[in-house]
Order: sequence, then structure tokens, then C-alpha cells
Amino acid sequence: MEKQLKSHGAWIGKWTFILAATGSAVGLGNIWGFPYKAGTNGGGAFVLIYLLCIIIIGVPIMISEIIIGRRAGNSPINAMKKTAIDSNSSHLWKLVGWSGITAGILILSFYSVIAGICLNYIFISATSSEILSSSEQFGAVIESPLNLIFWHTVFMLLTFLIVSAGVKNGIGRMVKILMPMLGFLLIFMVTYAMFNGAFVKALNFLFAPDFSNVTSETFLSAMGQAFFSLSLGMGSIMAYGAYMPKDQKVVPTSFTVASLDTLVAMLAGLAIFPIIFAFNLEPNSGPGLVFVSMLSAFNQMQFGQLIGPVFFVLLSIAALSSSISLLEPGVAYLSEEGYLSRKNSAFAISFFAWLLGLGTALSFNVLSDFNLTPDRNFLDSMDFIANQILLPLGGMMIAIFVGWFVKKDLIINEIGYVNPVIYNLWRFFIKFIAPTSVALIFISQVL
Ligand code: PHE
Repeated sequence: MEKQLKSHGAWIGKWTFILAATGSAVGLGNIWGFPYKAGTNGGGAFVLIYLLCIIIIGVPIMISEIIIGRRAGNSPINAMKKTAIDSNSSHLWKLVGWSGITAGILILSFYSVIAGICLNYIFISATSSEILSSSEQFGAVIESPLNLIFWHTVFMLLTFLIVSAGVKNGIGRMVKILMPMLGFLLIFMVTYAMFNGAFVKALNFLFAPDFSNVTSETFLSAMGQAFFSLSLGMGSIMAYGAYMPKDQKVVPTSFTVASLDTLVAMLAGLAIFPIIFAFNLEPNSGPGLVFVSMLSAFNQMQFGQLIGPVFFVLLSIAALSSSISLLEPGVAYLSEEGYLSRKNSAFAISFFAWLLGLGTALSFNVLSDFNLTPDRNFLDSMDFIANQILLPLGGMMIAIFVGWFVKKDLIINEIGYVNPVIYNLWRFFIKFIAPTSVALIFISQVL
């Protein structure tokens, strides 16, 4: 007899999955990561390669994750296990689910610290004075362990509260509020940048491809970014797929989510770079682009103390709708197995991620010289293990699993009718292109 797993309920209506999955995908990766990576990798050429990665690796893997999740209706661990058993494959495929949940917890631990800095900046940008320069200001923020831990705690608490309220009443309800807000704030920021910033210069920078600086590094960075940005390889989309109504079409829905995610990344670039150029700041300043360069722009502009907070609220909302999807796969597993209630599962996992996050908070200051893995401090090690090892590996395994092991009729049953050309393209990408490209990123980043 198979053990009965507890059910988590389902999203109501077609839009909830799209909003939740887009909420997961759109996050710090889009608004903080994408612009600075485009900035440091030469702009337009990076953007083009990124788009290619979304189409040939991202969307095919997203479709696969949703198929597995929705068919099973369970957490990634049990979803992988069920699908494997029903395809006469080894139940050990569930290890992909385990690796995903581990990656989710690792990412959540440092994501919450960075998102906490965003929360802190809502207030800093509202009151910012002329006394400190923006880089001194950033220095002051990250030098204080207590300050970082305080905001990390606030952010983790918000994440915990939403996830513990459940799929329908917590996550489902929150994304219906957060995502429209995010859309509205982003459009406001882009419009502001269009009228007040160096918009044409920014368009040129982002969309005029200059391939002279493209190296294999650029490809790797774009592929990694596509993965992280679409929340793939660690079960977030699989877990959300488990709550997707059966009559919703998997393929068009995946395209919608991937397009919205990409659109937001582009719009974030169009909100940030016009302002950066208008104030003669450097577009390639790296991770500090948002906290140092943007704050400096807000300090100089008219109404900067109003526009600044709007920008950082936008960033915080995007981070929150992603962090809940980092927590959900683990919570779904613990609660469906009946080990703990949903609330206690959410508490246990978020507390553990919070503890782990202390290492990241301290890596900015007292532990800045401590290396957890060779040449990498705590934050960089977490980022490396999760984003550069676990996510690509998870994504590659999911592609291999669906491409080579899952029974065909089971897939057809789940995706329903799709245009045969699209179906065959997807099969080809998932069998050959996605696994080999991901293997390439994986190998070259580890070496
Ligand atoms: N996609 C999110 C972002 O762009 C991060 C994330 C990764 C969320 C993996 C869930 C899973 O910020």
C-alpha cells in the first residue's frame, strides 16, 4: 500500500499559477542581478545571449518541471519519485528533489540577507542626507552585523508568515496583491526614467549588441542568470506546478511566465540605466549598482527621497514573492509526509535558513576574512554551491529525466494538445540541447 500524502490544495483560477510562478521568477535576479550583469558583460550582446538561453534551455526545462509537479500534485521529492516509479525508473530520481530543496534553503539563507538590505534602503533612501556619500552609506549598512541581522530577521519573518498561511490563503492571496503592485511600480519607474533620464543612451547600451567583448564567460554568465532568474533546477516551479489546475495548458503558460520574467528584467534595465547615465555614473559597477550608484542618483535628483523609496519597495516586493517559492518546496515535503503541520514545517525550515543566513550577514563584516570554500567567503560559498552547482545539476537531471526516462504517454497526457512543431522542438531541446548546454556551464564553472 502506498502511503497517503497530505494534500496542499490548489490554486483557484488560471491566473494564480501565472502570478505565483512569475512572482517566483521575478526577483532580485531580475532587478538587481540582470542589470549589473548586463552592465559588466557589455550590454546588448549579453542581453541577446541571455534571450537565447531562455528559449533553448529555460522554457523547455520549465515545461518539464510543471509536467512532473502537476501530474503528481506533491512536493518535488515525492513528485520525482512518483513520476519515476510510474515510468518504471528508479525511485532514486527523488534525489533530484532533495538536491532542489537543499538548494532552496541555501539560496533562501543569503537571499533574505540581501532582501533585508533592500528593506533597509527603503528608509535610507527616504532620509538620505548629504553627509555620507552613497558608498560610505553602503559601507555603514554592511559593516553593522546587528543591522544586517535585524533586517534579515524581518524579511525571513515575512516569508515565514506567508508560507505558513498555506497555498491558497498565503501564497495565492499574497501574489495577487504583490504582483500588480510590482507591475505598477515598475511601470512608474520606467516612465520616470524615460522622461527624466538618458533613455536613448540606455536603450543603446542594452540593445545595441557589441560582440567584441563576448567570451565564453559571457555565455556562462548569461546561462547561469537565465536559470536563476526563471527559478529552475531546484523545484520551486515544480512545487507551484503541483497546485496548477488540470485544465490549464502547460506549454502556453510556461511561455507566458518566461516572457513576463524577461520583460521585467528588460524593464528593470530601462528603469536603472537611464538614471545611471543621466548622472554620469558607471554602468559596470557590479553588485553595488543598485545600492551605491542608484542611491547616489536618488541623492542628487529632485524628489529623490520619494522616488528612491518607491524603487526599493519594488525591489523588496520582487524579493518577497521569490523567497516564498524558495521556502515552499521543503515545507510542502515536510507537511505532506505528515511529519509536521504546515505552520511548524514553515517555522522549522525558515528558522534553519535564518540561522544559516547569519553566516552571510557576518561575511560582510566580522567574518569577511573567513573562507568556507577555497577563496570564497560565506556568502560567495553559498552562492557558489547553490547557483553554480546545485541548480545547473538539478536542471540537467530534470532535462535528462523528462527527455529520456519519463514515459511518453504520461507527458502527452499532461501537456494535452500542442502544435506538433512546437512539441518536437521541445523534445529535441529537452533531450539534447538543454542537458549538453547545462553540462557545459556546469563543467566550466566548477573547473
Ligand atoms: N528567480 C528568483 C530571482 O530572480 C530567484 C529564485 C531562484 C527563486 C530559484 C526561486 C528559486 O531573484
